[in-house]
Amino acid sequence: MPTATSPQPPQGEPNISVLYSAEDISRRIAGMAREIAAVMPREFVVIALLKGSFVFAADLIRALHHCRLKPQVDFMTLSSYGGGTQSSGTVTVLRDTTEIIQGKRILLVDDILESGRTLVHAKKLLQERGAEDVRVAVFLEKPGKRAVQVEADFVGYRVPDKFVVGYGLDFANAYRELPYVGAIE
Ligand code: IMP
Ligand code: MG
Repeated sequence: MPTATSPQPPQGEPNISVLYSAEDISRRIAGMAREIAAVMPREFVVIALLKGSFVFAADLIRALHHCRLKPQVDFMTLSSYGGGTQSSGTVTVLRDTTEIIQGKRILLVDDILESGRTLVHAKKLLQERGAEDVRVAVFLEKPGKRAVQVEADFVGYRVPDKFVVGYGLDFANAYRELPYVGAIE
């Protein structure tokens, strides 16, 4: 029996329509890196929120390198989804950062900004730990879904209000491996 904490991938293969191809994404990430390089100092700390942002973060830091930036990298695992496609509303830290945050310029990296709860929680934690500055880069943003007030400084794409998967984003921990972003129809 599937439970809230052990979601199962959907039965059968759902229809996934491609929104952004691997080629589109690669060009957009290069553009985002240039936007980031225009305002960030050469050295700062990228904090990638797991699991969803690992593919985006991996491509973004290499694009940042091409813009002559030298980010350090750290990770934090937050969870607001028990499984499925609905946010539970509470955010918990499942795995914390390991690097010093005090006095650092931070670029918080996430896969998608929806209700905003995840990012508000992460931003507040880092500010409480004495980060000098916390900027936010998200690969995707779903407009009109915000439950709390938070904006991303850098946005890859504004997506339609559909459940999207691929390029690190999952449905019940499936489809993260897709090299494109698609909407589950
Ligand atoms: P928020 O806290 O509601 O902004 O949700 C952010 C988190 O929810 C993201 O980091 C994703 O893990 C997940 N999420 C929200 N929308 C989607 C979606 O369409 N596809 C996959 N994951 C999503
Ligand atoms: Mg997720």
